[in-house]
Amino acid sequence: MAQQVRGVVARAKGEPVRLETIVVPDPGPGEAVVKIKSCGVCHTDLHYREGGINDEFPFLLGHEAAGTVESVGEGVTEVAPGDYVVLNWRAVCGDCRACRRGRPWYCFNTHNAKQRMTLTDGTELSPALGIGAFAEKTLVAAGQCTKVDPAASPAAAGLLGCGVMAGIGAAINTGGVGRGDSVAVIGCGGVGAAAVAGSALAGASRVIAVDIDDRKLETARRLGATHTVNSRSQEAVEAIRALTGGHGADVVIEAVGRPETYEQAFYARDLAGTVVLVGVPTPEMRIDLPLLDVFGRGGALKSSWYGDCLPSRDFPMLIDLYLQGRLDLDAFVTETIELDGVEEAFARMHEGDVLRSVVLL
Ligand code: APR
Ligand code: ZN
Ligand code: ZN
Repeated sequence: MAQQVRGVVARAKGEPVRLETIVVPDPGPGEAVVKIKSCGVCHTDLHYREGGINDEFPFLLGHEAAGTVESVGEGVTEVAPGDYVVLNWRAVCGDCRACRRGRPWYCFNTHNAKQRMTLTDGTELSPALGIGAFAEKTLVAAGQCTKVDPAASPAAAGLLGCGVMAGIGAAINTGGVGRGDSVAVIGCGGVGAAAVAGSALAGASRVIAVDIDDRKLETARRLGATHTVNSRSQEAVEAIRALTGGHGADVVIEAVGRPETYEQAFYARDLAGTVVLVGVPTPEMRIDLPLLDVFGRGGALKSSWYGDCLPSRDFPMLIDLYLQGRLDLDAFVTETIELDGVEEAFARMHEGDVLRSVVLL
């Protein structure tokens, strides 16, 4: 039977979000209803509410979540009621060209749940990134649920569902950071700080954190940065080169999404080094690079999508490392809030002292 629960809804472009009663149907074939325990507040939620992603209002926001499976639909074998899971926003299809070539992280035929949750008047909700987890319960595809060790606290575990996975994966999966590499991370918000942690985890010998905010640089140090550069007071490319014997870093990770930092990332890498682009630019942004530099410097420019992660492989592994004390996921949780605190958390995002606000249920 369909259930009524509370959820955070954005009704119209730019309007503050509100806590509303939503209707969650029983899971259909291949689906699961998950009782949410935690959900982090991500910039993408704010982009939805600002109409920056599409105009399919009303949105049920939230997508960085951990919870317990309550019920499953017909044919579901991946998870069972009672399983502790982290949700992901790309259930891979297993059958498209990318999946068949063994690169499921490029799957664009994702099998997320159909959008079947509604407001009490029957208006269909669009769940953010196919999840919608600022809610007591949500309906997802079973493939969006990855079982992890229940010893991990929900606030920490849920973070793997988006920003932190994006950062760690940018370093480990996309950048291929390995033992002894030098890495520079430009922009150390939630995503960049996770890229710092991922680089340290992968055994980088130098992890240079770059930001314009000293508070972010402090956190980056706590997560494994060996050097920090405030690019308001120091020229970023020169500073990174000076810290890498004059040649630049093996891997540079851009986690801001602005033309000037894209350009810095391009020039801060060693010849034949790798630039990993995680920061999402806006449609009008451009950079102007001499082709001779593109040609002459060699190496690779790669964008990283959701950390090129494979949830079934990466989530349980990272949770295990967290439980062993080798990955400090707790450092990302600046504050825990209630379901009705999301709008205020959006406001605090701009103040710069929050890595993640996490709703606990
Ligand atoms: N140089 C260096 N750092 C900068 C600059 C700059 N010119 N401008 C901003 N920053 C820093 C901010 O101080 C902040 O610490 O970049 C960081 C951005 O962090 P957040 O706003 O917390 O964003 P985050 O969630 O980390 O996402 C970063 O990755 O996935 C994408 O869409 C996301 O484009 C966004 C980026
Ligand atoms: Zn696929
Ligand atoms: Zn997100």
